[in-house]
Amino acid sequence: MTAIGDPITRVDGHAKVTGKAKYSAEFAVPHLAYAVMVTSTIPSGRILSMGTSDAQHAPGVLAVMTSANAPKLPQGGKAAVHPPAGRVLSLLQDNLVHYNNQPIAVVVAETLNQALYASSLVTVRYQRETPHFDFEGGFATAHPGSHGKDPADKSIGNLEQGLADGEIKVDEVYTTPLENHNPMEPHATIAEWNGEKLTLHDATQYITGVKQTVAKSFGIPDENVRVLCPFTGGGFGCKGSTWSHVLLAAMAAKVVQRPVKLVLERPQMFGPVGGRPRTHQRIVLAAKRDGTLTAMQHDVHSHTSEIEDFTEPSSSVTRMLYASPVIKTSQRLVPLSLGTPTFQRAPGESTGTFALEIAMDELAYKLNMNPIQLRLKNYAEKDPTENKPFSSKHLRECYEQGAARFGWSKRNATPRSMKRGNELIGWGMATATYPANRSSASVNVQFEPNGRVTVACGSQDLGTGTYTIMAQVASATLRLPIEMVDAKLGDSAMPKSPVSGGSQTAASVTPAVQAAAKQALLALFAMAAADNNSQFHNAASQDLDFQNGKIMHKGQSGGEDFKDLLARNGNKPVGATASAEPEQDSEQYSKHSFGAVFAEVSVDEALGMTRVRRIVGVYDVGTLLNDKTGKSQLIGGIVWGVGLALLEEAHLDKASGRIVNNNLAEYHVPVNADIGEIEVFALNIPDTKFNPLGARGIGEIGITGAGAAIANAIYHATGKRIRSAPITPDMLLA
Ligand code: MOS
Repeated sequence: MTAIGDPITRVDGHAKVTGKAKYSAEFAVPHLAYAVMVTSTIPSGRILSMGTSDAQHAPGVLAVMTSANAPKLPQGGKAAVHPPAGRVLSLLQDNLVHYNNQPIAVVVAETLNQALYASSLVTVRYQRETPHFDFEGGFATAHPGSHGKDPADKSIGNLEQGLADGEIKVDEVYTTPLENHNPMEPHATIAEWNGEKLTLHDATQYITGVKQTVAKSFGIPDENVRVLCPFTGGGFGCKGSTWSHVLLAAMAAKVVQRPVKLVLERPQMFGPVGGRPRTHQRIVLAAKRDGTLTAMQHDVHSHTSEIEDFTEPSSSVTRMLYASPVIKTSQRLVPLSLGTPTFQRAPGESTGTFALEIAMDELAYKLNMNPIQLRLKNYAEKDPTENKPFSSKHLRECYEQGAARFGWSKRNATPRSMKRGNELIGWGMATATYPANRSSASVNVQFEPNGRVTVACGSQDLGTGTYTIMAQVASATLRLPIEMVDAKLGDSAMPKSPVSGGSQTAASVTPAVQAAAKQALLALFAMAAADNNSQFHNAASQDLDFQNGKIMHKGQSGGEDFKDLLARNGNKPVGATASAEPEQDSEQYSKHSFGAVFAEVSVDEALGMTRVRRIVGVYDVGTLLNDKTGKSQLIGGIVWGVGLALLEEAHLDKASGRIVNNNLAEYHVPVNADIGEIEVFALNIPDTKFNPLGARGIGEIGITGAGAAIANAIYHATGKRIRSAPITPDMLLA
């Protein structure tokens, strides 16, 4: 029997490796036309005119859509800016250019190559305006930025007093660069109108969000839009919002009166669909000589676009991680002539822990204290700025187990004290943390006449394992072999579920799976009780049991296959839809996951090369629903941490406003050769104040802390304190 936590292999794995899993651009829609976006080549200004006639007359071209002839949308295309959706899109409703690579036209043709060729013939005359790329220069006029429930400013205590009380101080600036998500699957949309009804195959983390945004933008009822996305080829945040190309595909399909496919070219993934903003983080830590923190200050500047605010809430970690009597944090935004940034894996916590956890390491060295001791000395028993208890927190065990598994006690803290051959070896550690999020979700569970069970939810699986844990929790709840369960998702006609962002899918969807499975079973028992020909006729549901697909009297063996019951009762499915809401009283708690991450690096100073030899992470993420897919998420997050620390950066050409390394060859994400040994462990202590299964999300915590652990290991290896990501070879050459 399947149990919660079992290391079930991905149920969709076979379909994926055999190519049967269909991604959004792969659906064969008859009579399909191909769209290509033309994007701006200047960062700021207006379009004076566009030359489209050559493109229009090129072979196979069906339409060239520009701001001159694009369908007019309600409220100039800004209808969906307000909740529930909310991005400012480029929908050819005006001729303004706010960033380089902004969509300014769409060419539709019979084939992709024809569309591509024709798009190269479109000419544009611009009136240029001065773009803004001076990030640091914008600090003086920066404006406050909030992020969801995180306000722009949050403080406790008197900063001057706290700083004065400190005997030892760290006061440094930490920076992280522009980054892009780079999922393997680019954004892709197929749009097909049938009268007033629109069907979209869209690569997304949020089918319901796409549906609502598109409906609102066109001014049509939600129920006229159906969004399908059975598989998402990675998202990491960029597919959490509905971006311009989705609407542009639907507009183009309307214009040519045919289904239209629009797939972003890889360079178009750098600008119109978000990325991580730059951060500049000043951190001041003040402490007594025994390590007791007296003040923490964390002031963050991040950039946003000229058209919309997005805040990278890097100070969020300083607001909850350590027990300091004085905490002062702020988030400020500098608008630049770039596409609007967005959520990228652990927005805020990834960049925030990079800064804070290096600062803590610096403080530990100044105090001549073990960095774990420093963290234990300031262990937060409650959330310091919210003044609430944690729903569940076992970070101490993470430090202990992590240190033991890594062998931390054998560390000589002196920089440059460990060598292997001509390489310096360094060990560093950091704290990991990510909030526990959860939203309302609905699920349908159905017993099918063919003897199988279907569990369906309008959720998404971006490679995280949603299919698997849906099937697993249904299987465990119904005591049914998982092979008998079919999990279905990725269709907005299915019961509603939240965005697969904020690491919330598992914690939101699985309680609804449990609830729906229990209700479906009651419906099955009721059918049996009402069936004159059933041995369970008139039986009360509390006297019935279900195991291995059989209904039985409690405490007795034998029983009847549910399939036979259905066969006698019209051979139709029976089941139930149920919702699960976040626990009301969980609001009295601060809800977060925690972890401790330890890194070993080797640095060759002749080459400046850093290798991450091994990482050990121990996490307190509540119940681990699936030991295999769950740990795979944690490992994936750590791999992202390696990218943050050593590799990832989008390089901006300030003359054009374009990202110059806008491809997977020059924008480096870690590959297998960059990754040493990664070992992850989960404490597996249920957080039942957060949800009935005790599970918190695990999609994002892996990246947090990992970057700082590596940076701290590099300091230990080399004696060079690098406060700026990525840490590249030029910074480490002897
Ligand atoms: Mo995640 S960056 O919340 O999609």
